[in-house]
Amino acid sequence: IKDLSKEELQGKRVLVRVDFNVPLNEKGEVTDNTRIVSSLPTIKYLLENGAKVILVSHLGRPKGKVKEELRMDPVARELEKLLGKKVHKVNQCIGEEVEKAVTELKEGEVLLLENVRFYPEEEAGDEEFARQLAKLADIYVNDAFGTAHRAHASTAVVAKFLPAYAGFLMEKELQVLGEKLNNPDRPFLAILGGAKVSSKIGVIRKLLEKVDILLIGGGMSYTFIKAMGYEVGTSLLEESMIEEARKIMDKAKELKVTFELPEDFVVAPEGKEGVPTQVVKWNQIPPDMGGFDIGPETVEKFGRFIAGAKTIFWNGPLGLFEVDAFAKGTIEIAKKVAASGAVTIVGGGDTIAAIKKAGVEDKITHISTGGGASLEFVEGKKLPGVEALLDK
Ligand code: 3PG
Repeated sequence: IKDLSKEELQGKRVLVRVDFNVPLNEKGEVTDNTRIVSSLPTIKYLLENGAKVILVSHLGRPKGKVKEELRMDPVARELEKLLGKKVHKVNQCIGEEVEKAVTELKEGEVLLLENVRFYPEEEAGDEEFARQLAKLADIYVNDAFGTAHRAHASTAVVAKFLPAYAGFLMEKELQVLGEKLNNPDRPFLAILGGAKVSSKIGVIRKLLEKVDILLIGGGMSYTFIKAMGYEVGTSLLEESMIEEARKIMDKAKELKVTFELPEDFVVAPEGKEGVPTQVVKWNQIPPDMGGFDIGPETVEKFGRFIAGAKTIFWNGPLGLFEVDAFAKGTIEIAKKVAASGAVTIVGGGDTIAAIKKAGVEDKITHISTGGGASLEFVEGKKLPGVEALLDK
């Protein structure tokens, strides 16, 4: 949108697709406003240039139905605080009430539409629904990098019906992820964690072609350990991915990528607060216990690789970090990543939460607002939200 001048924006109605899919607590308060803060440059630029800003986002997965607890009102309040100005809010995304609110909107004012996933047409990528959204505005801006991997009405289809532009956040995400990960300073190290091998298989394969070192932690490590022929007790295990895990390890060898699994684990009978825990070697997990965090030896070993890296990409926690008893490994690694001096790129809601819990968010080069979107981008997949803009 930096190409849009004041003359082009003054008095124009601009529909901005943002990703305000933020976590809420039981009281309905936003507990992490990273995604809202990240879209402020685009919103402010439009407001300062006299546009009438209409924001649209999804929140959670209401599956085409109105869910009271997923209304956008808490987001409107949070945005109001951050912008220091009134944010108008309507309870629909299309129709008369919305059209009236848009007509009443003045230059430099903001209107937030309701959760767009209350409409089944959104995820279906319905053209008529997209047309109705387009009718509200003169210009479309997509700043929702976090949802760019979805081919939905408000993320991709609406671009067909209006002049369409990328917002500053979208542009920055694509530029940083593209440049830093495709032309990395070496050694290039990736850390992958999270529960499942299956959800990261594509990205693991792609990263093996690019990185020098791959560190694996979190729930997915147990499938690899099982693939090496060892027992994992009651730890998370994806039986169906054991063969795949074996192939990945063979591929790493073939490509001469340093592939590292945890040295030790914090094990417990259950993954909850207050249970007795113990640290065991990676190949000595007792049959009645499960691994819920990486142990101190792993932190030290991973830390040595991290300290020597020049580029680090990290997605996925290394243990069940939302439970304090199992948060230590992930937090220690977050601190080491932050202190590494490398170009550091971190993505995924849980990983960002861990970075914040460690209090090191200011020391990370780029915190991506995309979880699934950043993984698909790294994997080399085309993102429908981006393609729709390129098509224009
Ligand atoms: C995310 O949180 O990754 C994005 O907002 C997309 O949400 P979704 O996975 O429900 O499509």
